[in-house]
Amino acid sequence: MKVFVTGGAGFIGSHTCVELLNAGYEVVITDNLSNAKLEAIENIQKIAGKPVSFYRTDLRGLEGIRRIFAEHSIDVVIHFAGLKSVPESMRKPLEYYENNIGGTFALCQAMREAGCGRIVFSSSATVYGMNNPVPFKEEMPASATNPYGYTKVMIERILTDLSAADPQWGVVLLRYFNPTGAHSSGLIGEDPNGIPSNLFPYVSQVAAGLRPEVVVYGDDYDTPDGTGVRDYIHVTDLALGHLSAVRHVLEHTGIEAVNLGTGQGTSVLEIVSAYSKACGRKLPYRVVPRRPGDIAVCYADTEKARRLFGWKAQKNINQMCADSWNFAKNRYLK
Ligand code: WQD
Repeated sequence: MKVFVTGGAGFIGSHTCVELLNAGYEVVITDNLSNAKLEAIENIQKIAGKPVSFYRTDLRGLEGIRRIFAEHSIDVVIHFAGLKSVPESMRKPLEYYENNIGGTFALCQAMREAGCGRIVFSSSATVYGMNNPVPFKEEMPASATNPYGYTKVMIERILTDLSAADPQWGVVLLRYFNPTGAHSSGLIGEDPNGIPSNLFPYVSQVAAGLRPEVVVYGDDYDTPDGTGVRDYIHVTDLALGHLSAVRHVLEHTGIEAVNLGTGQGTSVLEIVSAYSKACGRKLPYRVVPRRPGDIAVCYADTEKARRLFGWKAQKNINQMCADSWNFAKNRYLK
């Protein structure tokens, strides 16, 4: 079985490719390396001890994608490729719509031409917006509060309509909560370009001495310690959730949205404390006003992933911090 992974050099994509190879799938990767490094492709092969086919291409080039389907008999597509910074999407909405939606159009067109109708889409808990009660359940209405979130809502809509128009398609929309941690080898992990907007990569850079302190966005939320609460999930658990979704679309048509989270909420200050233990140093932090667009609490209802896939996240916060720190030491201190 051959899986085409768009954005496969990225944080979640690279970890998923490792687990696909470990499970015996052949893997074809595209990535334009706009937010990833070629080194990730080498490390995927090094960890798994198996080769991949890699194309440095942009999804918006239909000819480039057609070539992949001409050169490979693709059974399933996992679609990660896309821009993913919330603050950046508010500064550059046109780039986000053109890249994320345009790339998906080209991909789906090439899939239809090639007769490949099985896709696992990298969606996000951001589609639950600000008005749903926690824990978030898949049947809740989708909305967004920023262009990045709207691209996820719109792509879910496109795939839903595609599935309705052609019942032979098999589609899974995976709604990730907060991906963190790194592969136990320390060879691949979260390595964003520029100043990290997400908490875990920022904390890891404070721990490595690249930044002076953790900046805590608000301690006046209605939460136990006043700081934001999120459902952090280890990226390897997330990768294994993709294998479950691949197996599902190989055996089922139709469309399903599925949460990939732990169902547990953890606050910013609890992360700072756990990461301090992992790196052996009390990490300094400074509380500043809330970040616009942030919600107080976000965590998953995990029942559907358990029922549909038999999947449940296994790793806890301490393991996420330990694996994140192991990668950060390799990345920044060697
Ligand atoms: C987590 C908590 C912040 C940084 C985003 C996207 C979402 C998904 C995951 C792609 C919040 C606080 C953060 C910092 C802080 N991405 N924080 N200091 O915002 O929950 O979700 O990433 O799918 O779509 O919206 O993640 O890591 O940015 O923030 O205090 O330097 O940490 O306020 O409470 P978020 P995050």
